[in-house]
Amino acid sequence: MRITTRLIVALVIAVTAVSGAATYLTVQQERNRLTTELEHRVWLLAEGLQESTGPLISGAPSKRLNKIIDKVSAGKRVEGIAVFDNSDRLVSISKGLAEKLPSGLDSILQELTGEAGKGVFDKIASQPMYIFAMPVIVEDLRAGTVVIFSDISYIEEHIAGIWRRNFLRILANALIISVITLLIVRWSIIGPIAQMSEWIRSIHKGKADDLFKFPKQGIFEPISREISNIVKSLTVARTQAEEEARLRRQGDSTWTAERLKIHVKERLQDKKLIVVSNREPYMHVRNGRLVECISPASGLVTALDPILKACSGLWVAHGAGNADREAVDRQDKVRVPPENPQYVLKRIWLSQEEEDGYYYGLSNEGLWPLCHIAHTRPVFRMEDWARYQEVNLRFAKSLDEEIEDGTYIFIQDYHFSILPRLIKQRHPEAKIALFWHIPWPNPEAFGICPWKREILHGMLGADLIGFHTQYHCNNFLETVDRTLECRTNWESFSTTRMGHTTIVKPFPISVDFSGRPPGVPGQGKDDLLKELGVKAAMFGIGVDRLDYTKGIVERFRAVERFLEKNPEYRDVFTFVQIGAPSREHIKRYHDFVGEVLSEVDRINWKFQSIDWKPIVFLKRHFSHAEIEPFYRSADLCMVTSLHDGMNLVAKEYIASRDDEKGALILSTFAGASRELRDALLVNPYDIEQMADSIKTALEMDASEQTERMRNMRDVVRENNIYRWAAEILTELTNIRGN
Ligand code: G6P
Repeated sequence: MRITTRLIVALVIAVTAVSGAATYLTVQQERNRLTTELEHRVWLLAEGLQESTGPLISGAPSKRLNKIIDKVSAGKRVEGIAVFDNSDRLVSISKGLAEKLPSGLDSILQELTGEAGKGVFDKIASQPMYIFAMPVIVEDLRAGTVVIFSDISYIEEHIAGIWRRNFLRILANALIISVITLLIVRWSIIGPIAQMSEWIRSIHKGKADDLFKFPKQGIFEPISREISNIVKSLTVARTQAEEEARLRRQGDSTWTAERLKIHVKERLQDKKLIVVSNREPYMHVRNGRLVECISPASGLVTALDPILKACSGLWVAHGAGNADREAVDRQDKVRVPPENPQYVLKRIWLSQEEEDGYYYGLSNEGLWPLCHIAHTRPVFRMEDWARYQEVNLRFAKSLDEEIEDGTYIFIQDYHFSILPRLIKQRHPEAKIALFWHIPWPNPEAFGICPWKREILHGMLGADLIGFHTQYHCNNFLETVDRTLECRTNWESFSTTRMGHTTIVKPFPISVDFSGRPPGVPGQGKDDLLKELGVKAAMFGIGVDRLDYTKGIVERFRAVERFLEKNPEYRDVFTFVQIGAPSREHIKRYHDFVGEVLSEVDRINWKFQSIDWKPIVFLKRHFSHAEIEPFYRSADLCMVTSLHDGMNLVAKEYIASRDDEKGALILSTFAGASRELRDALLVNPYDIEQMADSIKTALEMDASEQTERMRNMRDVVRENNIYRWAAEILTELTNIRGN
C-alpha cells in the first residue's frame, strides 16, 4: 500500500472510531434524557387524572369520565387511557384503544399494581409503548387505577436521526481528511522530494550555482543544508586539489590551505598548536527562540579561521555569545565550524566585572586608543589593570590543562600582552609567538601608559613577536629599548632580557585569496540597490566595525564634497556603508554611532531625491557571504582608516574582484597601503583629496582599472593568509630553546 493510502486509511479509521464512540455516548445521553422526560410528563398527567377521575369511578359507566379520558387522550404522544375500578374491571377507555389492547394486558396491570405509580416499556400491537398505571385514591381507599399508554416511537426516531446525521458527518470528515492529506502529502512531501532530487541531480551535473539555491522546505531544510555542506566540502577539496595540481605544473610558489597543512605537519612534528585570542571565531547567539552561530566582525578572526581549518589544532577564546554555554561539552569545548567541524574551540567564561575591566576597560579604553593615533584619549584605571592581569592569569591557568611537551602557542593581540610571560614562567619549554594586530606607536606615545614596564616585560615572555609592518617593529624595539633593561640587536631585530631572547619581525597579515564565498546569482548591482530602495547607476562600498579609528565620518564628508563638486553624480552615485556594531558599552563608541548617524542624516537630507540618496547606512552584523555580493559589484571600495594595523577589508575587496574591475581608495595610515600600491592612496583627514579620488575612481579607464586591480590581486594572491601563517610558524618552529 502506498504511504498516502496508508495515511488516509489510518486517519479515516481513527476519525471514524472517535466519532462513532462520541455518537454512541450522545445517543445514550439522549435516550436517557427523553425517557426521563417522558416518565416525568406521564407521571404529572397521571397525577392530574387521579384527582379528576377519583370521584367518577363508581363501577357504573360515567359519561363525564369518558369525556375526560377522551380529552386527555387527544394530547400529544398519548396513545390512550384506560380506567379500572378497585376490582380491576374496566370502567372507561379512550376511543380506539380497546382494539389495540392485547389480551395479556391483565398480566401487565398485575405487574403495575402498587401504592405508587409504576411504568413499563413494552410493545402493544408491535408499537413501542410506555405503560404507566397509577392507583386512584379516594378518602384513603383505592377507588381504582388509571393506566396511560404513551407512544414512544418518537424516541427511537430521534435516536435513529442522530445516528443518520453523524454517519453523514463521518462520511464528510473522511472525504475532507482524504483530500487534505492528499494535498499536504503532495505539497509538503512528494513535491519537495521531487524538487530536491532535481536539485541534487543538477549539483551532481556540476552546476555550482545551484548549490546555494538549496530547497527551503520546512522539514527537508536540515537535509538540504547537510547535502549542501557535503557538496561544499567536496567542491573545496576538488578546487584545492586542482589548484595544487596547477601549482605543481607551474612550479608556483603560492601558498594554499593544502600546502599549509602539509607544511604545518612537517614543522610541528606531532606537537600541538594552540591559538589564543579574546574574540572567538564562532559565537552562539540567541535570536528569539533560535540559537544562531555567527562569525564575528574581526580582522583577526577573518585571518585565523582558515588557518585553523587547514591545520586543526585548538583555539582558546573568551566565550562571549549569550548562548555559548549551551553549545559546549563538559570541558567547555565545541567543534567548529558547526556545519563542517574542522577544529576545536575552547571557551573561557568571564564575569561581567572581568569583562568590564579587562576587555572594555584596559584593552579597549586604554591600549586601543593608546596604539591608534586617532585623537581619542586613552583611559587608564587601576581597577581595569587589576582585572586585566586576573584575566590573563585565568587564560594561563586554563592553558595549563592543554600544554604538553613542546606545544606551540600562538597568542593574538593587545588583550593578552602579559600572557606570554605568564605561560613562559609556568612552561619554560613552550614555544610562544605573540601577534600584535594593531599599530605600535612611537616610544613617546606609548610612554604615557602607567603600566608600560609590566606590559613590555609580559610581552617579552614570547619567543617571537609579530607586527604587520617593519615600522611597527621599529617602534616596538625602540620603546623596549627606552623602557626596560635589555639588550637590543638591531641587526637580527631581537631583544634579550633576563637571558631570554625575543625576535621581533613583520608579518603582513592577509586573507584567503582563493577561498572566497562564491557569487550568488540574483545579487548583482541592480538587485542589491533595488533591495536597498535606491536607484543609482554606480555605487561605492565601505565595510567596517563601527569604530572611531576607521575614518567613517571623514569618508561620508568626502562623499558629500564629491557631490558638491560634481552635481552630475547626484542621482547617479550612492555610497553603501555596512557598519557592524562594536564595543557599544564604551561611551566613545556609543557617541560615535550617534555621530555617524547624524552625519548620514545631514548629508542625505542635503542631496536626496525621491528614489535616490547619497548614503545608505546598514547598521548590523553581515556575514562574509552577505558582504561578498557588495564587494563584487561595487564600483569602488573606500578604506579610510585614521590609523590601522593592516585592514583586511581592503584585501578582501581585491580578492573578491576576479572580474578585475572596481577601484580601491585606501588610507596611507592603514598597514595595507604598504603593499597595495595600486590603490588610490589618500590621507583621510584631507576631505578634498578623498572627494577627488572618488571622481578618479569612477571615471578611471577600464584598462587602468584592470591593470591596477590585476597588480593588487597578484600581491594579495601571493601574500595570502596561508603564507602569513606559514612564515610565522616557520619562524616559531625554528626557535631553539633559550
Ligand atoms: C581588531 C582587533 C581584534 C578584534 C577586532 C574586533 O581587529 O585587532 O583583536 O577582535 O578588532 O574587535 P572586538 O573588540 O569586537 O573583538
